[in-house]
Amino acid sequence: MTAGEVRTTGTPHLAARPGDFAPLVLMPGDPRRARRIAETFLEDARQVTDVRGILGYTGSHRGVPMSVLASGMGIPSVTIYATELFRHYGVRRIVRVGTAGAIPASVSARDVVIASAAHTDSSLSRLLVDGLTLSLAPSYRLLRAAADAAETAPSAVHIGPVFSSDHFYLDRPALFDALRRRGTLAVEMEAAGLYAVACAEGGEALAVLTVSDHLHTGEALTAEERETDFDRAVRIAAAALLADV
Ligand code: HPA
Repeated sequence: MTAGEVRTTGTPHLAARPGDFAPLVLMPGDPRRARRIAETFLEDARQVTDVRGILGYTGSHRGVPMSVLASGMGIPSVTIYATELFRHYGVRRIVRVGTAGAIPASVSARDVVIASAAHTDSSLSRLLVDGLTLSLAPSYRLLRAAADAAETAPSAVHIGPVFSSDHFYLDRPALFDALRRRGTLAVEMEAAGLYAVACAEGGEALAVLTVSDHLHTGEALTAEERETDFDRAVRIAAAALLADV
């Protein structure tokens, strides 16, 4: 949009019309994964936005309206999409379904990590309330529902803090060691941003992560394994979205 042009539909980053998104949203990082989730988890899915290649779809899951929208990578990107969904489209719940790198030996590739808190090196945690570092945590209702759903999952599921990093190629072994000794399960790049936005906008959020690689052992999933193993986290995430609706 250029200066002076009047926006008749959508937000700066979403081309969808009011009502195009369901109140419940699954949010992978990758747009192609959003399309795959729409094709495999949603019934009667239709595409509602594609601005900058960030694909969004709305359909239903187990008879309940549900959407999926990609977040892109990193905290600045996820905060844009989550804010616009909560603020302009009546979205109530967003569950991130992404990948993460395992930190301790007790977490392996393919495991699922549900983020009960998100540490971050992003300034976002200090931007929201003057003079303090805000705790970035998920909705307890979504967390509890995900934990319940995980009990029937055929893979190892861990619940604990993650580190949402601003720098994928961060080369600070001592920092990761300190995080490991303080119980941090995995590193990714978006959960803290999503939790901060949910807190600021009065929405509910959670991150359910598939471990795609291990920081110390070097263990990593192939592209194909990422797709199939990812489905377990999506199933847990979708069940959490449906809690008490
Ligand atoms: N670092 C940050 N984000 C990630 C990683 C990682 O090692 N793996 C998957 N997402």
